[in-house]
Amino acid sequence: MKHQFIVLSLLFLIYATPTSAQPAASPAPPPSLPTPSPVSPPPDSPPPPAPPPVAQASILKILVKSGGFTVLVKLLRSTHVADQVDSQLADLNDGITFFAPVDAAFSALKAGTLNSLSDEQQVQLLQFHVVPTYLSMSQFQTVSNPLMTKAGGTGGKEFPLNVTSVGDRVSVFTGVNRASVTKTLYTDGKLAVYQVDKVLLPLSIFSAGSDFAQAPAPPRKKPVELAVSGSSEVGKVKTGDVVRLVIGIGVAGVVASLGL
Ligand SMILES: *[C@@H]1O[C@H](CO)[C@@H](O)[C@H](O)[C@H]1NC(C)=O
Repeated sequence: MKHQFIVLSLLFLIYATPTSAQPAASPAPPPSLPTPSPVSPPPDSPPPPAPPPVAQASILKILVKSGGFTVLVKLLRSTHVADQVDSQLADLNDGITFFAPVDAAFSALKAGTLNSLSDEQQVQLLQFHVVPTYLSMSQFQTVSNPLMTKAGGTGGKEFPLNVTSVGDRVSVFTGVNRASVTKTLYTDGKLAVYQVDKVLLPLSIFSAGSDFAQAPAPPRKKPVELAVSGSSEVGKVKTGDVVRLVIGIGVAGVVASLGL
């Protein structure tokens, strides 16, 4: 047994020794290591699993990451418009341009504005911020007005936006109010998310000249008018009640925000 081993070892040495005078320290590469060939599996094996899809942008993730869009994120969730935007992004080749009003824009709305809207109008209000085409900042200079938004359905005619661009300042006019693009939050050639300083108020919901479009009273000023226009339920309310109510709404808002 031992003898056979020695013979085999000698034979191995003879065959393994290089014929040239190369030093033994540089051995030839192993002769026949089979190289893996993943592209040609045996014919009977199931097809390899599809590669994981390229991570698609999510409007909520972008806004949450950017910060300062608590109200918008909450509304996009409650109306399911966030899901619509994400699936439109996956389906539409033209991409999407999204105007994202900051929290201050929502708090600048007259108190009760959002609550005065029906569920359908809330959806329309959010879809009004969605243009079903990708627009880079430079494309705003050449785009032809009016821009159709998702709120207008397939025709898009009822909820148009006008964009004007002077230098690198872009503003959006709804017929009710005017917002400025204050920051590019995200752009990838398919989705563009721009921060705007106002909630875009569609003319079809908020008539031109309505006080919804007005800037809010300064915080210290005593609120004069509580009821939405057209409502006669709330008549005269004592200032103390109003202050307590406003504080209550504020606290409720903070609680609701924390509960997100
Ligand atoms: C938007 O622009 C179009 C074309 O210039 C114009 O006809 C329309 O009146 C504008 N709409 C608003 C709300 O300014």
